[in-house]
Amino acid sequence: MRLDRFLSNLPRFSRKDVRFALVGKRIKVDGQTVSDPLHEVREFSRVECDDDVLQIGKPARYFMLNKPVGCVSATVDPQHPTVLDLLDEPDKHELHLAGRLDFNTTGLMLITNDGVWSRRLTQPQTKIAKIYYVETEQVITPDYVEKFAEGFYFAFEKLTTQPAQLTVLGPRSARLSIVEGRYHQIKRMFGHFDNKVLRLHRESMGPLHLDPDLAPGAYRPLDAAQILAI
Ligand code: URA
Repeated sequence: MRLDRFLSNLPRFSRKDVRFALVGKRIKVDGQTVSDPLHEVREFSRVECDDDVLQIGKPARYFMLNKPVGCVSATVDPQHPTVLDLLDEPDKHELHLAGRLDFNTTGLMLITNDGVWSRRLTQPQTKIAKIYYVETEQVITPDYVEKFAEGFYFAFEKLTTQPAQLTVLGPRSARLSIVEGRYHQIKRMFGHFDNKVLRLHRESMGPLHLDPDLAPGAYRPLDAAQILAI
């Protein structure tokens, strides 16, 4: 919400008071004096007027988790353990997953209560690369590379996938970089060649790489540089 609207929603300020408080440099957001009425105030922002705290600002939380096989990337599931079940954190209902992985896919999951941050990671328009290690049933032949770069037509969504970069590592293994996260996207891409994905592991999302020290099922908070990198 805009700062001027945030302030004028409080009973103590009239619109005129808001203008005077901003021009008089009496308002601080996250410790910085702000006079721009359009400055964005979020649920995480601490807002002060002189020495009064108008909003404490709730803590923004960010975690990386190494998703194991056999767990659902949803917040609740009637049958199976979920990624959120692996977290020992308060107020888990406030957290959400920044992008999903299939039941048997492993690797990097990012979990947060900051919707703006997670949208930046997952929106196809931001073109953040997600890198996966893939193992398949059949041999991956060199002609795959061009097809992945060209895109696959997904009839259900009526779209062609964005160019993807496939690096063949061995007869049945590859590293794949995609910028979207369509439903079962990678399995469907390899499905075009009738080649079943046997193992899928997400290694990174943009600048965030799965910490090699995290065992399957383990998690840790992101550090400040990692949060700011998105
Ligand atoms: N593509 C898939 O097919 N599965 C995943 O879990 C992620 C990407």
